[in-house]
Amino acid sequence: MMGPNSVRILEELLSQCPLRLSPNDQILDLGCGKGLTSLVIAKETGAKVYANDLWINADENRRRFIEWEIDKQVIPVCEDANDLHFEKKQFSALVSIDSYHYFAGSKGFFENKIMPFIKDGGVVLIGVPGIKDEFEGRAAQILFDWLGEDSHMFKGPKVWKELIGNSDRIESVRTWEVDCFDKAWSEWLAVDNKFADSDRQYFDSIIRPYTCFVGIEIKLY
Ligand SMILES: C[S@@+](CC[C@H](N)C(=O)[O-])C[C@H]1O[C@@H](n2cnc3c(N)ncnc32)[C@H](O)[C@@H]1O
Repeated sequence: MMGPNSVRILEELLSQCPLRLSPNDQILDLGCGKGLTSLVIAKETGAKVYANDLWINADENRRRFIEWEIDKQVIPVCEDANDLHFEKKQFSALVSIDSYHYFAGSKGFFENKIMPFIKDGGVVLIGVPGIKDEFEGRAAQILFDWLGEDSHMFKGPKVWKELIGNSDRIESVRTWEVDCFDKAWSEWLAVDNKFADSDRQYFDSIIRPYTCFVGIEIKLY
């Protein structure tokens, strides 16, 4: 784990928005980190998974995928989400858990940098940490002690919906606060890890009262 249990969040997104894919479909796990979600996506959908991350290099993930015996189905890639080199309309679906906020918080990003790689009729499922709608606009002040300069990345469900926008390829966008927040966080805070130690200090005072995990489902025509 690299933060609140990404498998819990993925599980909730998939149960609300099931992906019906076959081994011929390709799916992009964007910001996959060490590939935990890529493993689950591969097992749950049977599709070929491109596991893309920036900070974790492809060789490191490839070694893990060989160990997990999923290397025939899961392809590690190391590219910046701002400058991806996949084929246009390559993916039937895209999943991104706990990473989209690092790179996608500007208007037009989805339409220009991500959507071109998704097939017509494709589905995008995103889970990002955010601020509850009622505290929108105050993240820099409220979250500063915990996140410092990164606080501005935390946006609420309403703002994420606006940021995704309404291109003519988009059929629907739905954003909501996911239910598994407490469980995903408690599983992360139980881990022996220096980042979890630091999060533990702020959980009761900042994280739990003001933040949420935002689910985003985008369906394309
Ligand atoms: C908190 S980790 C989450 C990883 C994984 N999705 C999980 O939940 O276990 C955030 C990930 O976002 C990735 N990331 C940040 N900026 C990125 C970018 N510009 N392009 C691709 N990935 C990026 C990082 O490499 C990092 O692994």
